[in-house]
Amino acid sequence: MSEKIKVVVIGAGTMGNGIVQTFAMHGHAVTMVDLSADALSSGIATIEKSLARFVRKEKMTQDAVNAALGLISTSHEMESASSDAGLIVEAVFENEEVKKDIFKKLDAAAPADAILASNTSSISITRIASATTRPDRVIGMHFMNPVPLMKLVEIIKGERTSEETLATTIALSEGLGKVVGIAEDYPGFIANRILMPMINEAAFSLMEGVGTREAIDTVIKFGCNFPMGPLALADFIGLDICVSILDVLHEGLGDPKYRCCPMLRRLVEAGKLGRKSGEGFYSYE
Ligand code: NAI
Repeated sequence: MSEKIKVVVIGAGTMGNGIVQTFAMHGHAVTMVDLSADALSSGIATIEKSLARFVRKEKMTQDAVNAALGLISTSHEMESASSDAGLIVEAVFENEEVKKDIFKKLDAAAPADAILASNTSSISITRIASATTRPDRVIGMHFMNPVPLMKLVEIIKGERTSEETLATTIALSEGLGKVVGIAEDYPGFIANRILMPMINEAAFSLMEGVGTREAIDTVIKFGCNFPMGPLALADFIGLDICVSILDVLHEGLGDPKYRCCPMLRRLVEAGKLGRKSGEGFYSYE
């Protein structure tokens, strides 16, 4: 059970528009904020396409889609959009300084009791919260891509996150039909602490010639009953994102077992970022 609250999502990119869509599908009024007009219009277009797929698959009626779209607004003005929000979810680039600057401004602009959440995949929630005067109301809400389809929200408790903020965030996430996993604020949290070393090991296995990319993916996909192999998954996530999360694990935990595979880093240096650039471990037409 969760009440419907006014939600603001900062960032209209891959994750931001999916988060906006998911809140609107569950009856929350939600404002999508981005600095870029193009990002806002392509975010809305992505949401419309995704909702149309739900109708085609008979998972939503056209009336429900219209109701969801009617709950979504857009803005370039983060501060004014946040002045009456109950929850703000930040989903901008994975950059600590950018996120801290946003949280500082949100802290000044949002109601005193609003929860400020970050969708960061690897940056410390405690450090982001330190940019605000309300670290008890700052929390990690790590949605998975694609947000409307993936069941998990990994919720991250910062050092000062209150039990009340945690309980409200769990209730809101479950109200979106999601399953919640709670992580303490250590580098990579749970999802990436476990997933990224597997992807890294797959890259080392490829580099050392243990198997071809197809063999590595086939063995893990069918041997472990995963929906896709680790190299294909890395291409889907983005190889640049994998490298930056591995660097966070390596630096934050100080253990050489997290060192990024040189082949993975070399692909990124060559601009081979996975699906989004047309080539990574595999080529995409
Ligand atoms: P993205 O690059 O697709 O979108 C980021 C958006 O933020 C852009 O539209 C940009 O214009 C906007 N933006 C940047 N600075 C802004 C500001 N000051 N105010 C308003 N908008 C601003 O990024 P993506 O992939 O959606 O990632 C967002 C966050 O979600 C990152 O922290 C990332 O680590 C995390 N994440 C990403 C996942 C993925 O699979 N892409 C999965 C889970 C988490």
